[in-house]
Amino acid sequence: MERKNFISLFGLGAGSLIISTCLGSCGKSDGPTPNPGPGPSPGSKVDFSIDVSTNADIKEKGWTIQKGVIIALSGSDYIALGGACTHQQNPMTYDSGSNTFPCSLQTASHGSAFDVNGVRLRGPAIGNLKKYNTTLTGNTLRVFES
Ligand code: FES
Repeated sequence: MERKNFISLFGLGAGSLIISTCLGSCGKSDGPTPNPGPGPSPGSKVDFSIDVSTNADIKEKGWTIQKGVIIALSGSDYIALGGACTHQQNPMTYDSGSNTFPCSLQTASHGSAFDVNGVRLRGPAIGNLKKYNTTLTGNTLRVFES
């Protein structure tokens, strides 16, 4: 093989390797995915139902995140709020002891919490969580917005 052909072939191969490696990993984070799952499509309204008697999260810990909405059993009522923190969109959680919704990221630069109406109790989040309507019929909980 002539030197010119070898360089041409090797150069193309190395370039392809770099490009394919970068396409496979550039821009990806090694950290946990903060996204609580797909929320409603832009312009569409939240309106879905779950069976609370078979939902494993509800049964085990009293709350779940479905379709970007956190649903928690607060006393005898189901509360449904936006499932992503308004600070940097980390998933929300529910604390039955304080009946509040803390952000899952409780670090020095995070740690927001919201009440059962989605109103911010502490930052750094500035905005409130959206609150959704719930109706329970038998074991079927409908979560919707007006
Ligand atoms: S993402 Fe929730 S406090 Fe920062």
